Amino acid sequence: MESREIATKFVKFFEKNNHKIIESSSLLPADKTVLLTTAGMQQFAPYFKGEKNPEKDFKSRTLTSVQKCFRTSDLESVGDETHLTFFEMLGNFSIGDYFKKDAINYALKFLIEDLKLDKNRISITVFGGNNLIPKDFEAIELWKKQGIAEEKIFEFGEKENFWGPPGPTGPCGPCSELHYDLTKKPCNKGKKCGPNCECGRFLEIWNLVFMEYNFTDKQKYENLPLKNIDTGMGLERISMIVQNKKTLFETDIFQKIINNIQKIGYKRTEEAKRMERIIADHLRGSVFLISDAVRPSNIEQGYILRRVLRKSIIYLNLLGAEPNKILDLTELIINEYKTEYKDLQKNKKEILTIIKEEKNKFQKSLDKGFVEIKKIIEDTKKQKKKQLPTKEIFQLYDTYGFPFEITKEIANKEKLEVNEEEFYDMFKSHQEVSRAGVEKKFGGVGDFGEQVARQHTATHLLHQALREVLGKDVRQAGSDLTPERIRFDFNFNRALTEEERKKIEDIVNKKIKESIPVKCETKKFKDAQKEGFLAFFRDKYGEEVSTYSIGDFSKEVCAGPHVQNTKEIGKFRILKEKSSASGIRRIKAVLE
Ligand code: ALA
Repeated sequence: MESREIATKFVKFFEKNNHKIIESSSLLPADKTVLLTTAGMQQFAPYFKGEKNPEKDFKSRTLTSVQKCFRTSDLESVGDETHLTFFEMLGNFSIGDYFKKDAINYALKFLIEDLKLDKNRISITVFGGNNLIPKDFEAIELWKKQGIAEEKIFEFGEKENFWGPPGPTGPCGPCSELHYDLTKKPCNKGKKCGPNCECGRFLEIWNLVFMEYNFTDKQKYENLPLKNIDTGMGLERISMIVQNKKTLFETDIFQKIINNIQKIGYKRTEEAKRMERIIADHLRGSVFLISDAVRPSNIEQGYILRRVLRKSIIYLNLLGAEPNKILDLTELIINEYKTEYKDLQKNKKEILTIIKEEKNKFQKSLDKGFVEIKKIIEDTKKQKKKQLPTKEIFQLYDTYGFPFEITKEIANKEKLEVNEEEFYDMFKSHQEVSRAGVEKKFGGVGDFGEQVARQHTATHLLHQALREVLGKDVRQAGSDLTPERIRFDFNFNRALTEEERKKIEDIVNKKIKESIPVKCETKKFKDAQKEGFLAFFRDKYGEEVSTYSIGDFSKEVCAGPHVQNTKEIGKFRILKEKSSASGIRRIKAVLE
């Protein structure tokens, strides 16, 4: 069964069951607090909240759609068998009509009767409860009534089984997921090997959200006026299962694209396959983003587009593609989707022009870099050394804006090493110089390092602000930075009040405005501790450590990179504050 047939079957199944088919909305959501459309429910959020009436606008309370989605949360996983940035989400929605029972019945009926999946290979996850919202006994009973054995129903916490909201506020609720057993073989965890097991035996295919809460700007879960259903199933994943393939990229969806990439002619190593997948995913995503009016830039959606587009360009280079290969592939992608998404055909010329311009801009710096790295590699080999000289590869980055990522890939291919730590040290000490150089050459876009430096310093301010507002026991428990957002975990055992949140945000922004220089000093770890520098307990430190102080406000042991003055950070905004694990809270924030 081809993927389009699956998508059609899906909406027809729900149409037969009184759902109205609604067209996909744009990848640029109407809700401006969210960067991109990441789920089918987004266009319906005002209806879930009771702000709009679905009977008036759709003449129906039950809806179904195939929604274009783009998620940056899986960006780093793309290249494996089952992750994507852009995908199509099949969904059915009930706005105050049916609830858990029917949602569960529909899901199983469609998978088993229409798609002929083996029921025995389906396992279920349900929400196990937390201190605010109880365990979902009702869902467990309903699944059992549908003939799902008790041992195939697994409970998880809010990380896995509480969904939404997709932005800082909005509809959300406990969810129940259907997972498919890909191999039928437990890993060494034996009976404990189930859905969400790291071994990858199970693939999450369909998420049923029992949407009954609204997460408000006061950081509270309030009951929505109605009980709603929001579901989402990735078309690519369900196609992989129906078509009995081992990866998403072997489905009919990607076959032509992957075959076309292979025409470049290279040895199909595992590494090459990973690159094929990244190109296929990122370029497909770029085509859809551009068609929905996103343009490459250094901020927000444009930055995401630039990032995925440039990554495709990098990997096409590494596979040895002709300069115009990317345009060939773009045309092919447009052709593949033009029947379903008419806009692609309409915007074809524009899409090709934007991709061509971005490619030409980026290719110039890449070409120079490639010549240089070849020389460096030859010299290293001549000298019978195993590691590329850090100073020279740093210069390559500094002078040509040549991505360190490519250097690493090439080194890997040549079975040579790079010293990452040394590279980042150099990056730190040359920060100002490098930024000036890169900006001159590429109009402000060299590497994503600059953004990370701003974010990194912002986390120091946030850490200290939290300690001032919530008490000195508060310590960082983890942090994760992507170009789009800051994630910061800290120990604390309750939700922050709106007042506290605002105070924290204000302190960080005040310190940014004060234009405080960031001072870096190397110290003996013991001395640093004595002087009150905070060290993140999970890290192991050598005897000598880098310390960063921001005036008298913040003192931390940290590997950086950092900006030189807080004024470079920009504006800091907290998007979300929620529980991450028992006794650990998580803040998501952005720099604007
Ligand atoms: N909105 C839910 C999801 O994206 C269905 O998983």
